[in-house]
Amino acid sequence: MAIVGIGLDLCDPQRVARVLARRGAAFVQRVLGPAERDEYARRSAASPQRGAHYVATRFAAKEALGKALGSGVAGLVAWHDCECLNGPSGAPQWHCHGELARHIAQRGLRLHVSLSDERSLVAAMVVVEGG
Ligand SMILES: CC(C)(COP(=O)(O)OP(=O)(O)OC[C@H]1O[C@@H](n2cnc3c(N)ncnc32)[C@H](O)[C@@H]1OP(=O)(O)O)[C@@H](O)C(=O)NCCC(=O)NCCS
Repeated sequence: MAIVGIGLDLCDPQRVARVLARRGAAFVQRVLGPAERDEYARRSAASPQRGAHYVATRFAAKEALGKALGSGVAGLVAWHDCECLNGPSGAPQWHCHGELARHIAQRGLRLHVSLSDERSLVAAMVVVEGG
């Protein structure tokens, strides 16, 4: 398989923390899918800062996916149609739904994602492979 797209995005978790303080549940509801919201609830119960970092990494991952697919977020890459969830080793993996899942299946694409999380900056990189 060849690489057919890459995407990179950075996000400031402190900015996300300020949005969460102002808009709280509405922002979480807009950006995270159902399984991500469950994980957000778990991490934010441990500490609000951990919750903000979780939202920031998912925000960056979805922006990076929009870049890698060339569509941007909110078109093909609807916020709720791409969930970036941790597998058993902790490595993040895409779980796609709806129109995005159909697009990926029809074109035989494989998505990869890597996240990095520092105190004042998070980063996400996405690679798309296709035939
Ligand atoms: C995995 C590891 C490289 C992450 O290092 P780190 O400095 O904490 O990573 P960063 O802060 O840059 O990034 C954190 C992100 O790494 C990702 N990550 C976690 N475990 C990972 C893994 N095994 N492989 C790839 N990515 C991983 C996650 O997406 C995480 O962010 P998230 O929890 O919000 O999803 C490091 O914890 C490690 O080497 N651990 C030893 C191996 C280990 O513990 N394996 C689990 C055994 S089950």
